[in-house]
Amino acid sequence: MKQNIYDHPEFFHQYKKLRQAPYNYNNLLEQPALKSLLPNLTNLQILDIGCGMGQFAYYCIENNAQHVTAIDVSEHMLAIAQCEHAHPHIDYYLRAIEDYQAAPDSFDCITSSLSLHYIKDFSAVIGKIARMLRPGSIFIFSVEHPIVTARKTTEDNWLYDDSGNSSHYAIDNYHDEGLRERTWLVDGVVKYHRSISTIINTLIEHNLTIEKMLEPIPDSEAVEKLPSLEKEHRRPSFLLIRARK
Ligand SMILES: C[S@@+](CC[C@H](N)C(=O)[O-])C[C@H]1O[C@@H](n2cnc3c(N)ncnc32)[C@H](O)[C@@H]1O
Repeated sequence: MKQNIYDHPEFFHQYKKLRQAPYNYNNLLEQPALKSLLPNLTNLQILDIGCGMGQFAYYCIENNAQHVTAIDVSEHMLAIAQCEHAHPHIDYYLRAIEDYQAAPDSFDCITSSLSLHYIKDFSAVIGKIARMLRPGSIFIFSVEHPIVTARKTTEDNWLYDDSGNSSHYAIDNYHDEGLRERTWLVDGVVKYHRSISTIINTLIEHNLTIEKMLEPIPDSEAVEKLPSLEKEHRRPSFLLIRARK
């Protein structure tokens, strides 16, 4: 079953506050890394999977993309996208990627920012993405890093010493892939853990060539704005990949 946690009222309320804050992990770490992987967007037709509030779709149009098809499973997220990031060259659709259909070779670039760790059948979705890409075109995505998703507990992965300082980051159950139920903003958030080799080999099995991987670390300016980012030097939060059909 597809989860739609972003329409949970309390989760949505908390997430919106977090995502719209001027300094957060998205704006200071993940989005700069994702944007650094983009090709020149001029005249490209783009599919953005899990578009959320539409910030990235709008960025593509501001950077001369011809058209963005932006899909998301959450009505609440799309309502904000349509209100704050509407544009005649962006079409927002309420659709899970699992249910989305487009003709083969439809897009010049497919992106997904932090949504594919919510997908149960990763291979089926990657196969669909590979079919929708035009030959030679690019798929760029970010997910929560497998180091972060591995453990089966809902406890904090950081372990603390007697003075309350974080001493270690715990990893466990790395090769036991599948569903993880987490407490993040609310209880019962479902994500899917996959090892790095599963992610990479799934792309390869669908004839996508990996061009670059990133495990972003913040620059000093970002750490000054959001000091908790300092911990990214000890373990990565995000994994980003650019692959070409
Ligand atoms: C962490 S948010 C990121 C939103 C946006 N990409 C951004 O960078 O702000 C993840 C988004 O993925 C969406 N999502 C989760 N599962 C999905 C699915 N199966 N199909 C499409 N979107 C999905 C959620 O509703 C949510 O808007």
